[in-house]
Amino acid sequence: MVNFANTKPHAVLIPYPAQGHINPLFKLAKLLHLRGFYITFVNTEYNHKRLLKSRGPNALDGFTDFSFETIPDGLTSLEGDGDVSQHVPSLCQSIRKNFLKPYCELITRLNHSATVPPVTCLVSDCLMSFTIQAAEEFALPNVLFFPSSACSLLNVMHFRSFVERGITPFKDESYLTNGYLETKVDWIPGLKNFRLKDIVDFIRTRDRNDIMLEFFIEMADRVNRDSTILLNTFNELESDVINALSSIIPSVYPIGPLPSLLNQTPQIHQLDSLDSNLWKEDIECLQWLESKEPRSVVYVNFGSITVMTPEQLQEFAWGLANSKKPFLWITRPDLVIGGSVILSSDFANEISDRGLIASWCPQEKVLNHPSIGGFLTHCGWNSTTESICAGVPMLCWPFFADQPTDCRFICNEWKIGMEIDTNVKREEVAKLINELIAGDEGKNMREKAMELKKAAEENTRPGGCSYMNFDKVIKEMLLKQN
Ligand code: UDX
Repeated sequence: MVNFANTKPHAVLIPYPAQGHINPLFKLAKLLHLRGFYITFVNTEYNHKRLLKSRGPNALDGFTDFSFETIPDGLTSLEGDGDVSQHVPSLCQSIRKNFLKPYCELITRLNHSATVPPVTCLVSDCLMSFTIQAAEEFALPNVLFFPSSACSLLNVMHFRSFVERGITPFKDESYLTNGYLETKVDWIPGLKNFRLKDIVDFIRTRDRNDIMLEFFIEMADRVNRDSTILLNTFNELESDVINALSSIIPSVYPIGPLPSLLNQTPQIHQLDSLDSNLWKEDIECLQWLESKEPRSVVYVNFGSITVMTPEQLQEFAWGLANSKKPFLWITRPDLVIGGSVILSSDFANEISDRGLIASWCPQEKVLNHPSIGGFLTHCGWNSTTESICAGVPMLCWPFFADQPTDCRFICNEWKIGMEIDTNVKREEVAKLINELIAGDEGKNMREKAMELKKAAEENTRPGGCSYMNFDKVIKEMLLKQN
Protein backbone atom coordinates (compact mmCIF):
# COMPACT_ATOMS: atom_id res chain seq x y z
CA MET A 1 0.00 0.00 0.00
CA VAL A 2 1.36 3.43 -0.96
CA ASN A 3 1.72 5.84 1.95
CA PHE A 4 0.13 9.12 0.88
CA ALA A 5 1.03 11.09 4.00
CA ASN A 6 2.59 14.38 2.93
CA THR A 7 1.80 13.71 -0.72
CA LYS A 8 0.51 16.20 -3.24
CA PRO A 9 -2.78 18.03 -2.83
CA HIS A 10 -5.31 16.44 -5.16
CA ALA A 11 -7.87 18.62 -6.96
CA VAL A 12 -10.80 17.09 -8.85
CA LEU A 13 -12.05 19.47 -11.54
CA ILE A 14 -15.38 19.17 -13.32
CA PRO A 15 -16.60 21.49 -16.09
CA TYR A 16 -20.13 21.88 -17.44
CA PRO A 17 -19.88 19.51 -20.43
CA ALA A 18 -19.45 21.94 -23.32
CA GLN A 19 -16.40 23.30 -25.11
CA GLY A 20 -16.78 26.86 -23.81
CA HIS A 21 -16.67 25.55 -20.24
CA ILE A 22 -14.09 22.79 -20.68
CA ASN A 23 -11.47 25.16 -22.13
CA PRO A 24 -11.18 27.67 -19.28
CA LEU A 25 -11.41 24.99 -16.57
CA PHE A 26 -8.70 23.07 -18.38
CA LYS A 27 -6.48 26.14 -18.25
CA LEU A 28 -7.18 26.34 -14.53
CA ALA A 29 -6.25 22.64 -14.20
CA LYS A 30 -2.91 23.31 -15.90
CA LEU A 31 -2.27 26.28 -13.62
CA LEU A 32 -3.01 24.21 -10.51
CA HIS A 33 -0.80 21.42 -11.80
CA LEU A 34 2.02 23.90 -12.28
CA ARG A 35 1.53 24.89 -8.63
CA GLY A 36 2.06 21.32 -7.47
CA PHE A 37 -1.45 19.83 -7.46
CA TYR A 38 -2.29 16.32 -8.59
CA ILE A 39 -5.15 16.83 -11.08
CA THR A 40 -8.12 14.66 -11.91
CA PHE A 41 -10.10 16.24 -14.74
CA VAL A 42 -13.62 14.84 -15.09
CA ASN A 43 -15.35 14.86 -18.46
CA THR A 44 -18.55 13.17 -19.51
CA GLU A 45 -17.98 9.84 -21.27
CA TYR A 46 -19.32 11.44 -24.44
CA ASN A 47 -16.87 14.36 -24.38
CA HIS A 48 -13.98 12.11 -23.39
CA LYS A 49 -14.60 10.02 -26.51
CA ARG A 50 -14.63 13.20 -28.58
CA LEU A 51 -11.36 14.34 -27.03
CA LEU A 52 -9.75 11.01 -27.87
CA LYS A 53 -11.09 11.22 -31.41
CA SER A 54 -9.82 14.75 -31.96
CA ARG A 55 -6.48 14.43 -30.12
CA GLY A 56 -5.60 10.78 -30.87
CA PRO A 57 -6.20 7.58 -28.83
CA ASN A 58 -3.16 7.98 -26.52
CA ALA A 59 -3.10 11.77 -26.35
CA LEU A 60 -4.44 11.91 -22.79
CA ASP A 61 -2.20 9.21 -21.28
CA GLY A 62 1.16 9.31 -19.63
CA PHE A 63 1.14 12.71 -17.97
CA THR A 64 2.63 12.82 -14.52
CA ASP A 65 0.13 13.81 -11.84
CA PHE A 66 -2.57 14.69 -14.39
CA SER A 67 -5.26 12.17 -15.19
CA PHE A 68 -8.72 12.02 -16.72
CA GLU A 69 -11.86 10.37 -15.39
CA THR A 70 -15.35 10.17 -16.82
CA ILE A 71 -18.95 10.05 -15.68
CA PRO A 72 -22.00 9.35 -17.88
CA ASP A 73 -24.17 12.29 -18.98
CA GLY A 74 -27.38 10.24 -19.02
CA LEU A 75 -28.10 11.31 -22.59
CA THR A 76 -26.99 8.38 -24.73
CA SER A 77 -30.39 8.51 -26.46
CA LEU A 78 -29.43 11.90 -27.96
CA GLU A 79 -26.04 10.84 -29.30
CA GLY A 80 -27.31 10.03 -32.77
CA ASP A 81 -28.75 13.53 -32.93
CA GLY A 82 -25.60 15.62 -33.40
CA ASP A 83 -23.45 17.17 -30.67
CA VAL A 84 -25.02 16.54 -27.24
CA SER A 85 -23.84 19.93 -25.93
CA GLN A 86 -26.28 21.54 -28.39
CA HIS A 87 -29.16 20.10 -26.36
CA VAL A 88 -28.71 22.63 -23.58
CA PRO A 89 -31.99 22.15 -21.62
CA SER A 90 -31.72 18.33 -21.81
CA LEU A 91 -28.15 18.50 -20.60
CA CYS A 92 -29.06 20.82 -17.71
CA GLN A 93 -31.99 18.61 -16.77
CA SER A 94 -29.72 15.57 -16.77
CA ILE A 95 -27.08 17.35 -14.68
CA ARG A 96 -29.71 18.02 -12.01
CA LYS A 97 -31.03 14.45 -12.07
CA ASN A 98 -28.15 12.17 -12.94
CA PHE A 99 -24.72 13.56 -12.12
CA LEU A 100 -24.46 13.57 -8.32
CA LYS A 101 -24.42 9.80 -7.84
CA PRO A 102 -21.66 8.86 -10.32
CA TYR A 103 -19.69 11.91 -9.24
CA CYS A 104 -19.77 10.81 -5.57
CA GLU A 105 -18.89 7.26 -6.59
CA LEU A 106 -15.90 8.63 -8.45
CA ILE A 107 -14.67 10.62 -5.43
CA THR A 108 -15.05 7.50 -3.26
CA ARG A 109 -13.13 5.43 -5.80
CA LEU A 110 -10.33 8.02 -6.01
CA ASN A 111 -10.12 8.11 -2.21
CA HIS A 112 -9.66 4.34 -2.13
CA SER A 113 -7.20 4.22 -4.99
CA ALA A 114 -3.68 3.02 -4.29
CA THR A 115 -2.27 4.97 -7.22
CA VAL A 116 -3.47 8.54 -6.67
CA PRO A 117 -3.34 10.74 -3.56
CA PRO A 118 -6.58 11.16 -1.59
CA VAL A 119 -8.81 13.95 -2.87
CA THR A 120 -8.15 17.17 -0.97
CA CYS A 121 -10.38 19.64 -2.81
CA LEU A 122 -13.00 19.98 -5.50
CA VAL A 123 -12.84 22.66 -8.18
CA SER A 124 -16.16 22.86 -9.97
CA ASP A 125 -17.88 24.85 -12.65
CA CYS A 126 -20.62 26.83 -10.87
CA LEU A 127 -23.13 25.29 -13.27
CA MET A 128 -22.29 21.90 -11.75
CA SER A 129 -23.80 23.10 -8.49
CA PHE A 130 -24.59 19.52 -7.36
CA THR A 131 -20.89 19.39 -6.39
CA ILE A 132 -21.71 21.72 -3.47
CA GLN A 133 -23.78 18.87 -2.02
CA ALA A 134 -20.99 16.36 -2.75
CA ALA A 135 -18.43 18.60 -1.05
CA GLU A 136 -20.60 18.62 2.08
CA GLU A 137 -20.93 14.84 2.02
CA PHE A 138 -17.17 14.34 1.74
CA ALA A 139 -16.30 17.32 3.95
CA LEU A 140 -14.08 18.69 1.20
CA PRO A 141 -13.52 22.32 0.21
CA ASN A 142 -15.17 23.16 -3.13
CA VAL A 143 -13.72 26.09 -5.05
CA LEU A 144 -16.26 27.18 -7.65
CA PHE A 145 -15.33 28.58 -11.03
CA PHE A 146 -17.68 30.71 -13.11
CA PRO A 147 -16.53 30.57 -16.73
CA SER A 148 -18.50 33.56 -18.04
CA SER A 149 -18.36 37.24 -17.12
CA ALA A 150 -18.78 38.51 -13.57
CA CYS A 151 -21.78 40.39 -14.93
CA SER A 152 -23.47 37.17 -16.04
CA LEU A 153 -23.01 35.75 -12.57
CA LEU A 154 -24.48 38.92 -11.08
CA ASN A 155 -27.47 38.55 -13.44
CA VAL A 156 -28.04 34.96 -12.43
CA MET A 157 -27.77 35.76 -8.70
CA HIS A 158 -30.73 38.10 -9.28
CA PHE A 159 -32.85 35.79 -11.47
CA ARG A 160 -35.26 35.12 -8.62
CA SER A 161 -36.00 38.84 -8.36
CA PHE A 162 -37.08 38.89 -12.03
CA VAL A 163 -39.69 36.26 -11.14
CA GLU A 164 -40.72 38.02 -7.93
CA ARG A 165 -41.20 41.30 -9.81
CA GLY A 166 -43.38 39.54 -12.38
CA ILE A 167 -40.97 40.41 -15.22
CA THR A 168 -40.51 36.80 -16.16
CA PRO A 169 -42.17 34.54 -17.28
CA PHE A 170 -43.20 36.65 -20.28
CA LYS A 171 -46.95 36.74 -20.90
CA ASP A 172 -46.72 35.78 -24.54
CA GLU A 173 -44.42 35.52 -27.54
CA SER A 174 -44.99 39.18 -28.51
CA TYR A 175 -42.91 40.29 -25.50
CA LEU A 176 -39.83 39.31 -27.48
CA THR A 177 -40.57 41.83 -30.20
CA ASN A 178 -42.95 44.50 -28.80
CA GLY A 179 -40.31 46.68 -27.18
CA TYR A 180 -40.60 44.98 -23.77
CA LEU A 181 -36.93 43.94 -23.94
CA GLU A 182 -36.01 47.66 -23.94
CA THR A 183 -37.35 47.96 -20.34
CA LYS A 184 -34.70 49.38 -18.03
CA VAL A 185 -33.25 47.14 -15.33
CA ASP A 186 -32.38 49.70 -12.68
CA TRP A 187 -32.73 47.85 -9.39
CA ILE A 188 -29.60 45.71 -9.53
CA PRO A 189 -26.56 47.38 -7.92
CA GLY A 190 -23.57 47.18 -10.24
CA LEU A 191 -25.52 47.30 -13.53
CA LYS A 192 -25.33 50.57 -15.43
CA ASN A 193 -27.79 51.39 -18.24
CA PHE A 194 -28.95 47.82 -18.53
CA ARG A 195 -32.09 46.76 -20.40
CA LEU A 196 -33.91 43.43 -20.22
CA LYS A 197 -32.36 42.73 -23.60
CA ASP A 198 -28.88 42.77 -22.01
CA ILE A 199 -29.71 40.32 -19.23
CA VAL A 200 -28.59 36.66 -19.55
CA ASP A 201 -31.35 35.50 -21.84
CA PHE A 202 -32.71 32.54 -19.85
CA ILE A 203 -35.26 34.96 -18.39
CA ARG A 204 -36.88 35.20 -21.85
CA THR A 205 -39.33 32.41 -21.18
CA ARG A 206 -43.09 32.02 -20.93
CA ASP A 207 -42.86 29.16 -18.46
CA ARG A 208 -42.16 29.61 -14.72
CA ASN A 209 -40.94 26.00 -14.69
CA ASP A 210 -38.63 26.58 -17.62
CA ILE A 211 -35.69 24.17 -17.29
CA MET A 212 -33.02 26.81 -17.79
CA LEU A 213 -34.59 29.36 -15.46
CA GLU A 214 -34.93 26.74 -12.73
CA PHE A 215 -31.42 25.44 -13.34
CA PHE A 216 -29.90 28.85 -12.74
CA ILE A 217 -32.17 29.77 -9.83
CA GLU A 218 -31.15 26.51 -8.18
CA MET A 219 -27.50 27.37 -8.79
CA ALA A 220 -27.93 30.84 -7.29
CA ASP A 221 -29.70 29.33 -4.26
CA ARG A 222 -26.89 26.84 -3.66
CA VAL A 223 -24.10 29.38 -3.97
CA ASN A 224 -23.88 31.18 -0.66
CA ARG A 225 -21.87 33.68 1.32
CA ASP A 226 -19.36 30.97 2.24
CA SER A 227 -18.63 29.98 -1.37
CA THR A 228 -15.29 30.78 -2.94
CA ILE A 229 -15.80 31.68 -6.59
CA LEU A 230 -13.06 32.22 -9.15
CA LEU A 231 -13.94 34.49 -12.06
CA ASN A 232 -12.36 34.53 -15.49
CA THR A 233 -12.23 38.32 -15.57
CA PHE A 234 -10.12 41.18 -14.21
CA ASN A 235 -10.83 44.35 -12.26
CA GLU A 236 -10.49 46.89 -15.09
CA LEU A 237 -13.10 45.02 -17.12
CA GLU A 238 -15.89 44.75 -14.58
CA SER A 239 -15.01 46.67 -11.40
CA ASP A 240 -18.55 47.86 -10.51
CA VAL A 241 -19.97 44.42 -11.09
CA ILE A 242 -17.23 42.69 -9.11
CA ASN A 243 -17.84 45.09 -6.20
CA ALA A 244 -21.58 44.43 -6.33
CA LEU A 245 -21.00 40.67 -6.46
CA SER A 246 -18.65 40.86 -3.46
CA SER A 247 -21.51 42.15 -1.34
CA ILE A 248 -23.49 38.99 -2.14
CA ILE A 249 -20.58 36.52 -2.14
CA PRO A 250 -17.63 37.95 -0.18
CA SER A 251 -15.08 35.49 -1.60
CA VAL A 252 -15.25 36.20 -5.34
CA TYR A 253 -11.82 36.37 -6.91
CA PRO A 254 -11.19 37.68 -10.41
CA ILE A 255 -8.20 35.63 -11.63
CA GLY A 256 -8.47 36.26 -15.37
CA PRO A 257 -8.20 36.49 -18.13
CA LEU A 258 -7.03 32.89 -17.99
CA PRO A 259 -5.34 32.85 -21.43
CA SER A 260 -3.08 35.62 -20.17
CA LEU A 261 -2.54 34.08 -16.70
CA LEU A 262 -1.52 30.79 -18.29
CA ASN A 263 0.69 32.40 -20.93
CA GLN A 264 2.59 34.34 -18.30
CA THR A 265 3.17 31.34 -16.04
CA PRO A 266 6.37 29.41 -16.77
CA GLN A 267 5.22 26.20 -18.43
CA ILE A 268 6.25 22.65 -17.75
CA HIS A 269 7.09 21.16 -21.09
CA GLN A 270 5.22 17.92 -20.46
CA LEU A 271 1.79 19.60 -20.47
CA ASP A 272 2.33 21.59 -23.68
CA SER A 273 0.73 18.96 -25.87
CA LEU A 274 -2.28 18.57 -23.58
CA ASP A 275 -5.25 20.34 -25.09
CA SER A 276 -9.00 20.36 -24.57
CA ASN A 277 -10.41 20.87 -28.07
CA LEU A 278 -13.28 18.50 -28.86
CA TRP A 279 -12.88 19.13 -32.59
CA LYS A 280 -9.79 18.31 -34.59
CA GLU A 281 -8.04 21.56 -35.45
CA ASP A 282 -7.40 22.68 -38.99
CA ILE A 283 -4.05 24.46 -38.76
CA GLU A 284 -3.66 25.27 -42.44
CA CYS A 285 -5.50 28.54 -41.96
CA LEU A 286 -2.45 29.84 -40.04
CA GLN A 287 -0.39 29.48 -43.18
CA TRP A 288 -3.06 31.24 -45.23
CA LEU A 289 -2.96 34.14 -42.75
CA GLU A 290 0.77 34.50 -43.47
CA SER A 291 -0.07 35.68 -46.97
CA LYS A 292 -2.21 38.57 -45.74
CA GLU A 293 -1.36 42.16 -44.79
CA PRO A 294 -1.11 43.11 -41.10
CA ARG A 295 -4.51 43.80 -39.45
CA SER A 296 -6.37 43.27 -42.70
CA VAL A 297 -8.33 40.04 -42.08
CA VAL A 298 -11.75 39.63 -40.45
CA TYR A 299 -11.83 36.42 -38.41
CA VAL A 300 -15.35 34.94 -38.22
CA ASN A 301 -16.22 32.29 -35.66
CA PHE A 302 -19.47 31.67 -33.79
CA GLY A 303 -18.11 29.21 -31.22
CA SER A 304 -19.35 25.73 -30.42
CA ILE A 305 -23.12 26.15 -29.92
CA THR A 306 -24.46 29.03 -32.06
CA VAL A 307 -26.66 28.04 -34.98
CA MET A 308 -28.24 30.16 -37.68
CA THR A 309 -30.85 29.89 -40.42
CA PRO A 310 -29.80 29.31 -44.04
CA GLU A 311 -30.94 32.90 -44.74
CA GLN A 312 -28.72 34.33 -42.01
CA LEU A 313 -25.79 32.32 -43.39
CA GLN A 314 -26.33 33.92 -46.80
CA GLU A 315 -26.49 37.42 -45.30
CA PHE A 316 -23.18 36.88 -43.47
CA ALA A 317 -21.59 35.31 -46.55
CA TRP A 318 -22.57 38.14 -48.91
CA GLY A 319 -21.79 40.78 -46.29
CA LEU A 320 -18.28 39.36 -46.07
CA ALA A 321 -17.96 39.12 -49.85
CA ASN A 322 -19.29 42.64 -50.43
CA SER A 323 -16.99 44.16 -47.80
CA LYS A 324 -14.09 43.39 -50.17
CA LYS A 325 -11.93 42.72 -47.11
CA PRO A 326 -10.04 39.45 -46.56
CA PHE A 327 -11.73 37.04 -44.16
CA LEU A 328 -11.20 33.72 -42.44
CA TRP A 329 -14.53 32.06 -41.63
CA ILE A 330 -14.60 28.99 -39.42
CA THR A 331 -17.75 26.90 -39.82
CA ARG A 332 -18.97 23.81 -37.97
CA PRO A 333 -20.90 21.06 -39.80
CA ASP A 334 -23.94 21.83 -37.59
CA LEU A 335 -23.79 25.63 -37.87
CA VAL A 336 -26.88 25.88 -40.09
CA ILE A 337 -30.29 24.87 -38.74
CA GLY A 338 -31.70 21.94 -40.69
CA GLY A 339 -28.89 21.86 -43.22
CA SER A 340 -25.22 22.34 -43.93
CA VAL A 341 -23.03 25.27 -44.91
CA ILE A 342 -23.83 25.57 -48.62
CA LEU A 343 -22.47 28.57 -50.47
CA SER A 344 -22.91 29.15 -54.18
CA SER A 345 -20.24 29.08 -56.89
CA ASP A 346 -21.00 32.80 -57.44
CA PHE A 347 -19.88 33.37 -53.88
CA ALA A 348 -16.74 31.23 -54.39
CA ASN A 349 -15.88 33.18 -57.56
CA GLU A 350 -16.48 36.49 -55.84
CA ILE A 351 -14.20 35.78 -52.87
CA SER A 352 -11.49 33.83 -54.70
CA ASP A 353 -8.35 33.83 -52.47
CA ARG A 354 -9.60 36.80 -50.46
CA GLY A 355 -11.68 34.57 -48.21
CA LEU A 356 -10.97 31.22 -46.59
CA ILE A 357 -13.68 28.99 -45.18
CA ALA A 358 -12.15 26.46 -42.85
CA SER A 359 -13.13 24.13 -40.02
CA TRP A 360 -12.37 24.28 -36.27
CA CYS A 361 -9.11 26.19 -35.77
CA PRO A 362 -6.65 26.95 -32.97
CA GLN A 363 -8.55 30.14 -32.13
CA GLU A 364 -6.07 31.76 -29.76
CA LYS A 365 -3.26 31.35 -32.30
CA VAL A 366 -5.48 32.81 -35.02
CA LEU A 367 -6.51 35.81 -32.92
CA ASN A 368 -2.88 36.53 -32.11
CA HIS A 369 -1.78 36.38 -35.73
CA PRO A 370 -0.61 39.83 -36.89
CA SER A 371 -2.85 39.77 -39.98
CA ILE A 372 -6.08 39.67 -37.92
CA GLY A 373 -7.81 43.06 -37.92
CA GLY A 374 -11.15 42.22 -36.31
CA PHE A 375 -13.26 39.38 -34.95
CA LEU A 376 -16.87 38.75 -35.97
CA THR A 377 -18.08 36.80 -32.95
CA HIS A 378 -21.14 35.50 -31.10
CA CYS A 379 -19.61 36.99 -27.88
CA GLY A 380 -19.09 33.77 -25.96
CA TRP A 381 -17.06 34.77 -22.93
CA ASN A 382 -13.98 32.80 -24.01
CA SER A 383 -14.02 34.38 -27.45
CA THR A 384 -14.46 37.78 -25.81
CA THR A 385 -11.56 37.39 -23.38
CA GLU A 386 -9.33 35.73 -25.99
CA SER A 387 -9.98 38.68 -28.31
CA ILE A 388 -9.13 41.12 -25.52
CA CYS A 389 -5.92 39.18 -24.77
CA ALA A 390 -4.99 39.58 -28.43
CA GLY A 391 -5.99 43.29 -28.59
CA VAL A 392 -8.50 42.61 -31.39
CA PRO A 393 -11.75 44.66 -31.73
CA MET A 394 -15.03 42.86 -32.41
CA LEU A 395 -18.24 42.78 -34.41
CA CYS A 396 -20.89 41.23 -32.21
CA TRP A 397 -23.78 38.96 -33.12
CA PRO A 398 -24.88 37.56 -29.74
CA PHE A 399 -26.86 34.35 -29.96
CA PHE A 400 -27.99 33.26 -26.48
CA ALA A 401 -27.20 32.82 -22.77
CA ASP A 402 -24.59 35.31 -21.48
CA GLN A 403 -23.77 36.61 -24.96
CA PRO A 404 -26.17 39.62 -24.94
CA THR A 405 -24.57 40.69 -21.63
CA ASP A 406 -21.06 40.34 -23.01
CA CYS A 407 -22.10 42.26 -26.13
CA ARG A 408 -23.40 45.13 -24.02
CA PHE A 409 -20.03 45.44 -22.29
CA ILE A 410 -18.01 45.09 -25.51
CA CYS A 411 -19.98 47.79 -27.34
CA ASN A 412 -21.09 50.19 -24.59
CA GLU A 413 -18.68 49.90 -21.67
CA TRP A 414 -15.34 49.06 -23.20
CA LYS A 415 -16.20 50.42 -26.67
CA ILE A 416 -14.16 47.78 -28.46
CA GLY A 417 -16.91 46.48 -30.70
CA MET A 418 -20.05 47.15 -32.75
CA GLU A 419 -23.27 45.14 -32.68
CA ILE A 420 -24.88 43.53 -35.72
CA ASP A 421 -28.68 43.39 -35.63
CA THR A 422 -30.21 39.99 -34.76
CA ASN A 423 -32.01 40.23 -38.09
CA VAL A 424 -28.68 40.34 -39.90
CA LYS A 425 -28.49 42.02 -43.31
CA ARG A 426 -25.59 41.86 -45.75
CA GLU A 427 -25.41 45.65 -46.20
CA GLU A 428 -24.93 46.15 -42.47
CA VAL A 429 -22.29 43.39 -42.26
CA ALA A 430 -20.29 44.88 -45.15
CA LYS A 431 -20.56 48.40 -43.73
CA LEU A 432 -19.48 47.44 -40.21
CA ILE A 433 -16.58 45.33 -41.48
CA ASN A 434 -15.29 48.30 -43.43
CA GLU A 435 -15.63 50.54 -40.41
CA LEU A 436 -13.88 48.00 -38.18
CA ILE A 437 -10.95 47.30 -40.50
CA ALA A 438 -10.48 50.64 -42.22
CA GLY A 439 -12.58 53.32 -40.46
CA ASP A 440 -11.77 55.81 -37.68
CA GLU A 441 -14.14 54.11 -35.27
CA GLY A 442 -12.37 50.80 -35.91
CA LYS A 443 -9.04 52.47 -35.23
CA ASN A 444 -10.27 53.83 -31.89
CA MET A 445 -11.63 50.43 -30.97
CA ARG A 446 -8.34 48.74 -31.77
CA GLU A 447 -6.50 51.24 -29.57
CA LYS A 448 -8.90 50.57 -26.70
CA ALA A 449 -8.60 46.83 -27.23
CA MET A 450 -4.81 47.16 -27.06
CA GLU A 451 -5.13 49.08 -23.78
CA LEU A 452 -7.28 46.28 -22.35
CA LYS A 453 -4.77 43.70 -23.58
CA LYS A 454 -2.05 45.53 -21.64
CA ALA A 455 -4.26 45.77 -18.56
CA ALA A 456 -4.96 42.02 -18.84
CA GLU A 457 -1.23 41.33 -18.94
CA GLU A 458 -0.54 43.59 -15.96
CA ASN A 459 -3.27 41.88 -13.95
CA THR A 460 -1.97 38.39 -14.63
CA ARG A 461 1.77 38.87 -14.16
CA PRO A 462 3.38 38.36 -10.72
CA GLY A 463 2.23 41.22 -8.50
CA GLY A 464 -0.90 41.89 -10.60
CA CYS A 465 -4.37 41.67 -9.02
CA SER A 466 -5.54 38.51 -10.78
CA TYR A 467 -2.21 36.82 -10.15
CA MET A 468 -2.30 37.70 -6.44
CA ASN A 469 -5.92 36.54 -6.15
CA PHE A 470 -5.00 33.19 -7.66
CA ASP A 471 -2.05 32.91 -5.31
CA LYS A 472 -4.26 33.66 -2.32
CA VAL A 473 -6.85 31.04 -3.26
CA ILE A 474 -4.16 28.40 -3.75
CA LYS A 475 -2.69 29.16 -0.34
CA GLU A 476 -6.15 28.84 1.21
CA MET A 477 -6.74 25.55 -0.60
CA LEU A 478 -3.47 24.20 0.74
CA LEU A 479 -4.24 25.46 4.22
CA LYS A 480 -7.61 23.69 4.24
CA GLN A 481 -5.86 20.47 3.22
CA ASN A 482 -3.80 20.40 6.40
C1 UDX B 1 -20.35 28.54 -24.34
C2 UDX B 1 -21.44 29.60 -24.36
O1 UDX B 1 -22.15 29.53 -25.56
C3 UDX B 1 -20.85 30.96 -24.10
O2 UDX B 1 -21.84 31.95 -24.18
C4 UDX B 1 -20.25 30.97 -22.73
O3 UDX B 1 -19.70 32.24 -22.44
C5 UDX B 1 -19.21 29.88 -22.63
O4 UDX B 1 -19.75 28.62 -23.03
P1 UDX B 1 -19.18 28.84 -26.84
O5 UDX B 1 -20.45 29.28 -27.44
O6 UDX B 1 -18.56 27.66 -27.41
O7 UDX B 1 -19.28 28.71 -25.24
O8 UDX B 1 -18.19 30.10 -27.03
P2 UDX B 1 -16.87 30.58 -26.32
O9 UDX B 1 -17.10 30.99 -24.91
O10 UDX B 1 -16.30 31.61 -27.19
O11 UDX B 1 -15.92 29.30 -26.29
C6 UDX B 1 -15.46 28.66 -27.43
C7 UDX B 1 -14.07 28.11 -27.16
O12 UDX B 1 -13.70 27.25 -28.22
C8 UDX B 1 -13.00 29.20 -27.10
O13 UDX B 1 -12.08 28.90 -26.07
C9 UDX B 1 -12.33 29.14 -28.45
O14 UDX B 1 -10.95 29.50 -28.44
C10 UDX B 1 -12.47 27.68 -28.81
N1 UDX B 1 -12.55 27.55 -30.27
C11 UDX B 1 -13.67 27.93 -30.93
C12 UDX B 1 -11.47 27.04 -30.94
O15 UDX B 1 -10.43 26.71 -30.35
N2 UDX B 1 -11.57 26.92 -32.29
C13 UDX B 1 -12.66 27.26 -33.01
O16 UDX B 1 -12.66 27.13 -34.23
C14 UDX B 1 -13.77 27.78 -32.29
